[in-house]
Amino acid sequence: MDCYEVMRTTFSAREFTGEALSDDALYEILDHARFAPSGGNRQGGRVIVVRNQITKNEIARLAEPASKRYAAQLSAGEGPWNSVIPSGVSDETIERTPVPALLTEPLRRADLLLIFVVDLRVVAATDQSLDRVGIVGGASIYPLVWNTLLAARSAGFGGTLTTISVASEPQVKALLDIPTPFAIAAVVPLGKPVKQLTRLRRLAVEDFTFTERFGGSPFDPAE
Ligand SMILES: Cc1cc2nc3c(=O)[nH]c(=O)nc-3n(C[C@H](O)[C@H](O)[C@H](O)COP(=O)(O)O)c2cc1C
Repeated sequence: MDCYEVMRTTFSAREFTGEALSDDALYEILDHARFAPSGGNRQGGRVIVVRNQITKNEIARLAEPASKRYAAQLSAGEGPWNSVIPSGVSDETIERTPVPALLTEPLRRADLLLIFVVDLRVVAATDQSLDRVGIVGGASIYPLVWNTLLAARSAGFGGTLTTISVASEPQVKALLDIPTPFAIAAVVPLGKPVKQLTRLRRLAVEDFTFTERFGGSPFDPAE
């Protein structure tokens, strides 16, 4: 599969055949992924490979409260977990909401989980003084996460970039002995996907670009 095809077809795989993703195959995936950039090339990302079923079950269980909130907000027409618009969904409604299997089962059923953490002591968060949720810190770890998913896709495997577990970060850190200065960026269930999706629904270039200023005409060489 060439690079562009991998980029255009790396979908979120949440169902796995159970076919093993060997340590050798995973090593090769990570050996390609490690060329991702990080701020100042500080390379503060660390990856925990979890194959133990009891640990996977516990990570899935810890994802339940945040997943219920996600589903409850979605049902109420809200953008789940957004940091800008206050939620009108009550704690009681969230409590009553069934656990959405789509968000928790892949964590239980994947061949393995990759826990991506980053050492905050080496992350330049240039937006830390702004009056909004931090976004820049993630830029020093998500390229590594995405490179991993691209490399996995290229090797015939698949997974999903998930962040729902981060809502329970203290418990997940305790479970995995993650030291204090590290933040969890993503939990990636990985394995052999049941289906090979090839067509992703994404905006066209004209739909997410502007020229010269926000709101300017779409970037379109034909115009
Ligand atoms: C920052 C980020 C966080 C995400 N968190 C989750 C998650 O917690 N659980 C999950 O199942 N999928 C998660 N996803 C996957 C998205 O839901 C998925 O990429 C999107 O629905 C598009 O699906 P597709 O990639 O198959 O086209 C996340 C994706 C991103 C980029």
